[in-house]
Amino acid sequence: MTAVSFQSVSKTFPTPRGPFQALHGVSLDIEEGEFFGLLGPNGAGKTTLISILAGLSRATQGRVTVLGHDVQADFARARQCLGVVPQELVFDPFFNVRETLRLQSGYFGVKNNDAWIDELLESLGLADKATANMRQLSGGMKRRVLVAQALVHKPPIIVLDEPTAGVDVELRQTLWQFIARLNKQGHTVLLTTHYLEEAEALCGRIAMLKNGRVVALDSTSELLQSANASVLQFKTDAPLPAALARLARVTGRIVQLPAHDAAEIEHHLAALREAGVASEDVEIRRADLEDVFIKVMGSEAAEAVA
Ligand SMILES: Nc1ncnc2c1ncn2[C@@H]1O[C@H](COP(=O)(O)OP(=O)(O)O)[C@@H](O)[C@H]1O
Ligand SMILES: [Mg+2]
Repeated sequence: MTAVSFQSVSKTFPTPRGPFQALHGVSLDIEEGEFFGLLGPNGAGKTTLISILAGLSRATQGRVTVLGHDVQADFARARQCLGVVPQELVFDPFFNVRETLRLQSGYFGVKNNDAWIDELLESLGLADKATANMRQLSGGMKRRVLVAQALVHKPPIIVLDEPTAGVDVELRQTLWQFIARLNKQGHTVLLTTHYLEEAEALCGRIAMLKNGRVVALDSTSELLQSANASVLQFKTDAPLPAALARLARVTGRIVQLPAHDAAEIEHHLAALREAGVASEDVEIRRADLEDVFIKVMGSEAAEAVA
């Protein structure tokens, strides 16, 4: 069965400068059991799409269903199937961690939930914080509570909106171990993230969103193969010749040049030699998801695929 179905979803916000269309007919289906990644730069519309899915915001046009339940017409049942970890840290400062999780259980009509709450606290490294007041927690700890809160009713579909933004390595690892385990047990996962290496490692299928349109939608391995390319990477202090500068992705001293094949790599190296650019730590690697992302986002011709 289809876990989440977005059908031609558009969203227009009124703004002081007139209407602003954040989503333009987004269509995509996520099947049960998938680990699905929704990627895109800031402002692409990821959070808007998730807010519509969670019933926090209404689509201007189109329809969204969760396991067949319309998120508007059948809000309660759709919401019950979802565990949503919001991008913003929102919490009630008057309660401690366990109280927060009990309250959330009550909200979903789940009684006697302490065994599962204990398991959540344990799995998310929160066991020793159960009686700490929400106010006293660090940002990373609050984030863990938000994840636990989203999971109190064991939702079949878990939605995480940038769960690791500004989060330390330890939490990222704890979180991904736990979410990967839930996915293996059959939970569907929908993730938005800025960390492309996380998406590459975790997601079986990926949609890329640009200015409110789906501009890529495929399995992670197909996307990687579609790049069909290598990257010549090196360090230098010298300015690049103009022909290479146009192609290069430069981060400090590190230069990365895409190349389709060995001949193109030779060509790049020859151009560097002719320009007298001294390079260190030269390596050739396969294109990764970040390379694919940059290519898709950078191409003016990026047409909506769905
Ligand atoms: N309530 C709102 N009113 C007006 N514009 C909004 C509102 N919410 C989001 N937007 C705009 O919609 C676009 C998409 O935002 P968002 O969904 O938050 O993107 P993302 O999560 O991909 O960074 C942005 O240009 C943002 O400024
Ligand atoms: Mg967002």
